[in-house]
Amino acid sequence: MLSDAFGREVTDIRVSVTKRCNFGCVYCHDEGLGPVARPRSPHGEEMTVAEIERLIGVAREFGIRSVKFTGGEPLVRDDLEEIISRSVEQIPDVSLTTNGSMLEYRAEALRDAGLKRVNVSVDSIDPVAFRSIRKGGLAPVLRGIREALRVGLKPVKLNMVVFRPTLDNIPRMIDYVGATDGLKLQLIQFMPELVAHREWMVDIDAVRKWLEEHATRVLIREMHHRHVYFFRHVEVELVDPVYNAEFCSNCHRIRVTHKGELKGCLNRTDDLIPTRGLDDDGLRSAFRQVITTRMPYYGGYVTDYPSRSSLGSLLPMVPARPGV
Ligand code: 5AD
Ligand code: SF4
Repeated sequence: MLSDAFGREVTDIRVSVTKRCNFGCVYCHDEGLGPVARPRSPHGEEMTVAEIERLIGVAREFGIRSVKFTGGEPLVRDDLEEIISRSVEQIPDVSLTTNGSMLEYRAEALRDAGLKRVNVSVDSIDPVAFRSIRKGGLAPVLRGIREALRVGLKPVKLNMVVFRPTLDNIPRMIDYVGATDGLKLQLIQFMPELVAHREWMVDIDAVRKWLEEHATRVLIREMHHRHVYFFRHVEVELVDPVYNAEFCSNCHRIRVTHKGELKGCLNRTDDLIPTRGLDDDGLRSAFRQVITTRMPYYGGYVTDYPSRSSLGSLLPMVPARPGV
């Protein structure tokens, strides 16, 4: 296994298979390469199944243990099942992040291909709020989640971006997740770096404090030192990277763009290493290069950023809610 100059081992790879998407989320960073493209727009630049398979094979040689496919929306690709079945031959732990709108029809085939888990973006369970944030419909997404659970793709993690339009709905979302067996909630701090709109940010420390006060138990994961809060049987994971040097100093993930460029950090686009056309040894050197040269974003690449506590008083708080 390779480590970077900051002692961070790389255990995990996130591969974008397309930049096309049928939604238009107001917060979308498209892996830093936004904006997303329409589903039917030309996509000749996307990696082929064989290119993805070769990348995953080399990732395995470097000791990488889990793969997450993402987009854009990965299900716009008709060959996603094939991508997954070839990838699990190399690295069995394969998961997917999807907007869920097309999952209903493909969950079973994806599971048969070897997919282990799925993250579905659900920022609100109110259809009107959902549409205004995502520019797409909630009902098919909920049907997709039900189908994923039915075929055994458990747990289904619901990704909820925490920003001004969703902040007040966190308790409601925890109740929703608790009412269905097999769901977990992932609260993802809105990341302004790649989409501007800094005014949408909320006081994530207040969210963390609220979770701490209401949870029955807390555990800390190795990846990013993410905190997982338990509300009786409901698991709520907080993903809070912004201005968080601890998060970055525990990042074990590299990324690949839909064109096959290796990327050491979500927040950067100046570190892309093209791999198209390289022979196998060239691809191995590219992996070594991306891993050894990567650095923590907060506390490394950027050192000058506001402290979280100095932002707090300017931002709205999560409402206290008795009974959770
Ligand atoms: N901030 C936080 N999360 C984001 N995502 C996309 N853009 C942003 C952003 N600006 C997350 C969504 C989605 C996943 C693909 O990426 O939660 O589930
Ligand atoms: Fe971006 Fe995903 Fe939303 Fe599509 S569904 S617009 S890729 S965040």
